[in-house]
Amino acid sequence: MQEQLNAIIASVRDQAPKINTRADFESFKATISGPKGSLTSVMKLMGQVPKEDKPAMGKCINEAKTVIVAELDAVLERIEQAELAAKLGPAIDPSLPGVDPNRGILHPIAQVREEMVHLFQRIGFSVAEATEVDTEHFCFDALNIPADHPARDMQDSYYLPHERSVGNVQKNADEKYLLRTHTSTVQIRTMLKEKPPIRIIAPGRCFRRDTPDATHSANFHQIEGLYVDRDVSLLDLKATLDHFVKTIFGSKAKTRLRPSFFPFTEPSFEMDFYSPDLGKLSNKWLEIMGCGMVDPEVFKSVGIDPKAYTGFAFGMGIERIAMILQGVDDIRYYYQNDVRFLKQFA
Ligand code: PHE
Repeated sequence: MQEQLNAIIASVRDQAPKINTRADFESFKATISGPKGSLTSVMKLMGQVPKEDKPAMGKCINEAKTVIVAELDAVLERIEQAELAAKLGPAIDPSLPGVDPNRGILHPIAQVREEMVHLFQRIGFSVAEATEVDTEHFCFDALNIPADHPARDMQDSYYLPHERSVGNVQKNADEKYLLRTHTSTVQIRTMLKEKPPIRIIAPGRCFRRDTPDATHSANFHQIEGLYVDRDVSLLDLKATLDHFVKTIFGSKAKTRLRPSFFPFTEPSFEMDFYSPDLGKLSNKWLEIMGCGMVDPEVFKSVGIDPKAYTGFAFGMGIERIAMILQGVDDIRYYYQNDVRFLKQFA
């Protein structure tokens, strides 16, 4: 019997390397362990073996079986590997260059916004936001902008139909909603929510009914700044804005405040700057923002005591800063989504 078992093992070892498909494997396996298989018939002989020889024979058969099963398993494993490789197709070379993924970049306006936001964050301002749709109260009244101010005019502002409701923005029955014309709405909303000291910047999108040209767009972006505390002075405003200008436009830049008017600041200024290193724009005074000391009327509208607190505010167009920094001479390029333009800022 041992010889028969040895012969079966030998034939398995002999055939195994020649079996390459699952079908061949199954039929070969049947010749060994199927009902009429060689191993099966040896096992059937056990019935005729004398009782005392049975344990020894059983052991021989089990040992042979273990060897045969291992051989067959190895064949099956090899066939499965081959099937998987066929499914996966030809091997790839991971060292080849990939398909150009055309990675996107932050929009040039967003790049400048981020730079400005980080600059102010480093000197203690935190970012505040509010909705782009707001009410006449927050856009105008609370900022001491009177009802007959031209900014409220239908030519200047985008109003929503009177009956429209905006779930997350409350308004009085006699007011209209509009797309905010400046980010100064965020000053008011922040002062209603927080107690001084307040030090925020509010970057965001604004809307005005402008006819688009090289320097005007009906949709643009502003950054608003507000600092309210005890004893905030004009010196703090000037120092903060000087720091901003010198960081963004270079340490040789100079600034000046020119008297101006905004209903929500008193006194009010336009801030200009001048830089020797700005290409075509070098050595010219360029106006970049409006600013001033928060008007006491504004403090009253948000319930802050103007005798105890003072503050400064400023607001500027991000496009204006971006155009100067990036040497862009037409604001419309920023909104045309032309990849040839955008790629230059990668
Ligand atoms: N909100 C003003 C504008 O849009 C800018 C400004 C902000 C001026 C804060 C003074 C203080 O023109």
